[in-house]
Amino acid sequence: MNLHIIPRPIYLTRHGESVYNTQDRVGGDCELSKRGELYAKKLKEFFKKEQEKEKFKDVKIFTSTLKRAMSTANEIDLGVKPLYLKMLDEINTGLCDGMTYEEIQEIYPFEYNERSFDKLRYRYPRGESYMDVIQRIEPIIFEIERQRVPVIVVAHNAVVRCLYTYFTQYEIENIPHLEVPLHNVIKLTPETYHCSEIR
Ligand code: F6P
Repeated sequence: MNLHIIPRPIYLTRHGESVYNTQDRVGGDCELSKRGELYAKKLKEFFKKEQEKEKFKDVKIFTSTLKRAMSTANEIDLGVKPLYLKMLDEINTGLCDGMTYEEIQEIYPFEYNERSFDKLRYRYPRGESYMDVIQRIEPIIFEIERQRVPVIVVAHNAVVRCLYTYFTQYEIENIPHLEVPLHNVIKLTPETYHCSEIR
């Protein structure tokens, strides 16, 4: 019942580079780095141009409740405030929160190997798996589907991977391995049988 055929772009992006990104640390709730702040500013210019190009008046902006995502989304100046949704928060890394991948391998070698073996189903102790994230973001997928105006989602690596795979219908097994680089916007426009994509 949420489906309709009105074409409108869906923009997916990760937040700007965070301090943790510069240190290769997972999780946390840190601020943007200087480069990340610059990306947020560039995003503002980018969406101004998109608004002119696509001629849209209204737009929806969804982001997470984590500082790096909120700071990025707050820069977008299209006359609407972002909606801060917990369900768009990054995958919960539980026990490994704040650690580098090297530290995880050193301190929790068993966990590290388990994750390498099945990254899609592996659940961080006291945290989440990609399968958990897929389940958690289902309501936001309905919400995006329902919109008749362009939608901008400023989220995180794992969450953008899951959303992107839903709209492009790639294999679920690929989700944890998809390349979603920082400082990129993915523009998806749903068409009859697939989504057109520009990065
Ligand atoms: O490194 C940035 C980050 O968003 C982490 O917070 C998160 O744990 C990770 O990416 C998810 O990517 P992967 O599943 O490849 O570790």
